[in-house]
Amino acid sequence: MPGGGVVITGTTEVSRVEAPVTAKAYFICAFAAFGGIFFGYDTGWMSGVLAMPYFIRQYTGLPYPDPNDKAAVTAFHLPASDQSLTTSILSCGTFFGALIAGDLADQMGRRTTIIAGCGVFTVGCILETASTGLGVMVAGRLIAGLGVGFISAIVILYMSEIAPKKVRGAVVAGYQFCITIGILLANCVVYATQKRDDTGSYRIPIAVQFLWAIILAVGLLLLPESPRYFVKKGKLEKAAKSLASVRGQAIDSDYIQDELAEIIANHEYEMQVIPQTSWLGSWANCFRGSIFKGSSNSRRTTVGILMQMMQQLTGINFIFYFGTVFFTSLGTISNPFLISLITTLVNVCSTPISFWTVERFGRRKILIIGGSGMVIMPYIVGIIGVTAGRESQHNKAAVSAMIAFICFNISFFAATWGPCAWVVIGEIFPLPIRSRGVGISTSSNWFWNCIISVITPYLVGTGKGDANLGAKVFFLWGSLCCLSLAFAYFFVPETKGLTLEQVDKMMEETNARHSASWVPHSTFAQEMGLTNKGVSISAPTEDIKAAVIQHEMKRDNEQH
Ligand code: BGC
Repeated sequence: MPGGGVVITGTTEVSRVEAPVTAKAYFICAFAAFGGIFFGYDTGWMSGVLAMPYFIRQYTGLPYPDPNDKAAVTAFHLPASDQSLTTSILSCGTFFGALIAGDLADQMGRRTTIIAGCGVFTVGCILETASTGLGVMVAGRLIAGLGVGFISAIVILYMSEIAPKKVRGAVVAGYQFCITIGILLANCVVYATQKRDDTGSYRIPIAVQFLWAIILAVGLLLLPESPRYFVKKGKLEKAAKSLASVRGQAIDSDYIQDELAEIIANHEYEMQVIPQTSWLGSWANCFRGSIFKGSSNSRRTTVGILMQMMQQLTGINFIFYFGTVFFTSLGTISNPFLISLITTLVNVCSTPISFWTVERFGRRKILIIGGSGMVIMPYIVGIIGVTAGRESQHNKAAVSAMIAFICFNISFFAATWGPCAWVVIGEIFPLPIRSRGVGISTSSNWFWNCIISVITPYLVGTGKGDANLGAKVFFLWGSLCCLSLAFAYFFVPETKGLTLEQVDKMMEETNARHSASWVPHSTFAQEMGLTNKGVSISAPTEDIKAAVIQHEMKRDNEQH
């Protein structure tokens, strides 16, 4: 494209700020969702491997116990501290990985950061697969975790930035769907290899992950970079090219020109509002402004952090991480693995409901409906658990009812909070702080994920000093969901059907509770004067700076 002569002017029509989309473009957006497989699979295989007889013998040096010797069977496991370390070190890696990735995605691009994440993950995987002792395994987990952190944060960012507004929620929900498939696959592979009496028992489930890294990295090499990243970097010709590619339209079509003008105008506007300073200053920008102002950066970052925290406090991972132990403790279950397979399947099958509901009813509504369901269901489980379902009652029907309500609870999560927490963090940040905002929010997910996995064994444990809550723990999850519900009602804005730039405007003009009725009424291109003047995409900054100054002056005049 001959850059020098191309001048884009933008549009005043709010319906024209996004180009129409072809089927190929939908496919491009959907492919990135594959990144969810890493997340799900990597969180899914560890607990199974930790329980494998070959693995335990190799790591502890204990001989296989005689099945009739109850004491030896009970003693045959990894020390709790080693279990805790190998499990939680992943979250430690992912926590830092997501934070670092937020930075890298602005330096080297969204796509390159995800590909780099695949590389880091592969190094971790090599160590894990090669390990025969705890040290190498822990180092491998930490490095693989860093890679998963890169991928889990930046895939959300990438998808949110390239997906068309009409299906952005559904496309990001596809990421959650891939997480659930990852968990399911991990369970199946671990189940298939758990009885092997060689290193294949744990090496096969770990090594399968190389496949995910190769598929994602190679696939992304063929896909375009996010046009919004190029706009942030001031590389407008490249932005136009990649926008044309993700929309499946001709680069010189009016559609692409109008959408690009809108992204540029919004970014330049935000750059004036959010001064660009040093590296530290740019992190500090994420916390700039009063938290009481709905559109301030500090408010958006807090909403992102709390969104992911609340998702974890629903207690969903209690079921996935400790489900098997919990179901066994109920006394009447003969095959706990089958039950955990059922809960995993319920998770997989319920998630696609959100593809439709997130766009039909919107983010706020489904978070509120899902939050209500997740208050009611755990309470029912808790009530049955402390009455007819107590272990001493040996009441099979009551235990089956508890499992049924746990499954309803999973369905509520899978169709609402599971995907929506990711959808929302991809949408609420303005471009100058978006990658960091998404990184910080994703770190919050891993932080709370880690806290839950560290404390829950003590909440339900029966040993000395443990809280021994048993089924009562569901009252805790139900109560925490009351908080999630209130959070969604007061703080989560409705972003359905808006471009990311319109979301930015909506958050400036209204609050979360009234956001659903907000409608776009002007374009950034119009406000910044681009529709009269235009901007040359080979020399954008000066043109737009002039437009920004004009805009600011006009606004000041209006205010006086
Ligand atoms: C959560 C994970 C959870 C998974 C279950 C994700 O959205 O962040 O912690 O294990 O959903 O499907």
